Amino acid sequence: MCGIVGVVGNVNAKDVLLGGLKKLEYRGYDSAGIYVNDKTGTPTLIKRVGRISKLEAAIPAALSGTQGIGHTRWATSGAPSIENAHPHVSADGRFYMVHNGVLTNAAQLRDKYLQDVTLVSDTDTEIAVQLLAKFVAAGNDVMTALHKLTAMVEGSYAFAIADRDDASRIYAAKSKSPLLIAKGKGFNALASDALALLDRTHEFVELNDGELVELTADTIHIENAAGATQNRDSYTLDIDATATDKGAYPYYMLKEIDEQPAVLRRLLTAYVKPDGHVDMPANLLNALAAADRLYFVAAGTSYHASLAAAPMFEELAHVPVSVHLASEFGYHMPLLSERPMFIFLTQSGETADIRQVLVKVKAQHLPTLTITNVPTSTLAREADYALSLHAGPEIAVASTKAYTAQVATCSLLAKALGEYKGVAAAEQLDLFHELSMIADAQQSQVDEKEVIHTIVKDALATTRNAFYIGRGSDYYVALEAALKLKEISYVQAEGFAAGELKHGTIALIEKDTPVIAIITDPVTAAHTRANASETAARGAKVITLAAKGLAAPGDDLELADVHPLLSPLAAIIPCQLLAYYTSMDRGYDVDRPRNLAKSVTVE
Ligand code: F6R
Repeated sequence: MCGIVGVVGNVNAKDVLLGGLKKLEYRGYDSAGIYVNDKTGTPTLIKRVGRISKLEAAIPAALSGTQGIGHTRWATSGAPSIENAHPHVSADGRFYMVHNGVLTNAAQLRDKYLQDVTLVSDTDTEIAVQLLAKFVAAGNDVMTALHKLTAMVEGSYAFAIADRDDASRIYAAKSKSPLLIAKGKGFNALASDALALLDRTHEFVELNDGELVELTADTIHIENAAGATQNRDSYTLDIDATATDKGAYPYYMLKEIDEQPAVLRRLLTAYVKPDGHVDMPANLLNALAAADRLYFVAAGTSYHASLAAAPMFEELAHVPVSVHLASEFGYHMPLLSERPMFIFLTQSGETADIRQVLVKVKAQHLPTLTITNVPTSTLAREADYALSLHAGPEIAVASTKAYTAQVATCSLLAKALGEYKGVAAAEQLDLFHELSMIADAQQSQVDEKEVIHTIVKDALATTRNAFYIGRGSDYYVALEAALKLKEISYVQAEGFAAGELKHGTIALIEKDTPVIAIITDPVTAAHTRANASETAARGAKVITLAAKGLAAPGDDLELADVHPLLSPLAAIIPCQLLAYYTSMDRGYDVDRPRNLAKSVTVE
């Protein structure tokens, strides 16, 4: 969380910073700030609590500069306030710092080294910038001081630093928080995410943990923790900058919901050969086939997608699967099988909870695969194998198209693995046909979304709570549907295994409590219907989303009949739209729900 951006060179720093921060706002929006210097010794610092738009309104149009750093904050230590907003300044007024991450030993460093400094904020970042200034005041050059600082701090950080007394350069350091360098013509820049600078350049340079950087307008100097210079080639990132624009849509979330049929078709092009066979790297299939159990480790929506993916690998590739929350797994690791393989399913590829698991399992020399939407991300780079989700940039905080891409990519991988192992169920499944049909069905759902808006007006407009129920894969969709609703509309929503209702939850049902039943599985359809009726008998307002062959008179929405393993792809869009319209009708900022940030880079 938190987004940082920095620039030095022949550009208007203010414009680069503001443009970049707007693209990074998904990483947090509690406060924002920029520092700009137009020539050595004349700094401007502007900070505001709240969204980037507030910061933008406070910046004079005439402000220009060739050196700058900026920050958009998701508060970790210290409440959202002007004092706690970045950039932070050293007591001597010389150094300005922005930071993404958490320094876990900040209080100890403060007590030990900063007794003589009056701190103005509650942040760990201010402690870091004060220490840096002390080291420089003691006679060290800035890079040496930065080495001393990074050797001392524990936790995670991406720092960008500007020196008021030298407007010709900026500095940076990274460990466990994302940061990359952007190479421009006549300028160099840095950001938490390439998206921030895609309208300026497509040429980027990766940074590894423990590295320090000094940028000038035309040089990029990287050192490792031991001070040795690192020579690194740049790479070209082939993403269209307009892919990150909202176009005519009121919200990114709606645009991203609508993109799902196209994402499915893109995945078919990327992974299916003309003869219908799935094309996955042979060494990856070999590693997966050698495993006696697959461990999915993920968070939030990606965890729900992992739950949907597990039966695919069990049925199509005959390999047992367990699915784990990353935030739990690393600290309460179960007894592992003899030949485990780890699969990290993650939209951003930066989730800190997952990364701590990756570090632990890599230390045990266990094989790892990251499936992510960001092929340049930390988790993609650090795992043994990586697969891309091809969903295109996902900007709205609530994940939608990444879920579809995750479930579909896992189905493709499960089929490829099953074929590799000679499992008949995999060989017989015409996945190209199934996913193409689902893309068409999803297209109809996004084309006819007003049906869902009507359901929202009838049942969800003012409710304080709502329950989603289902069995098997429908239960996994219920979990994701409830997460979507609660995170953007603040309705207390829960997903339940329908059969569990009468073991406790049904006590919550009151007159008009919305209960949304998802029914796509012929084996359990009658049971789920019976459970929905039990809630109706107690006053619930039941909304039924049922697959075509299982539909009954009075159902609210018919879902396409698809292969049972793929039913989450047929059911998810209506659930996303229920959440979208509920949030929109209540007047909330759909794309930027309170208290959340998209890329969760703190544990
Ligand atoms: C919910 C949502 C989050 C993420 C979770 C994991 O809409 O977006 O629950 O799914 O933070 O993020 P990734 O997939 O980037 O690891």
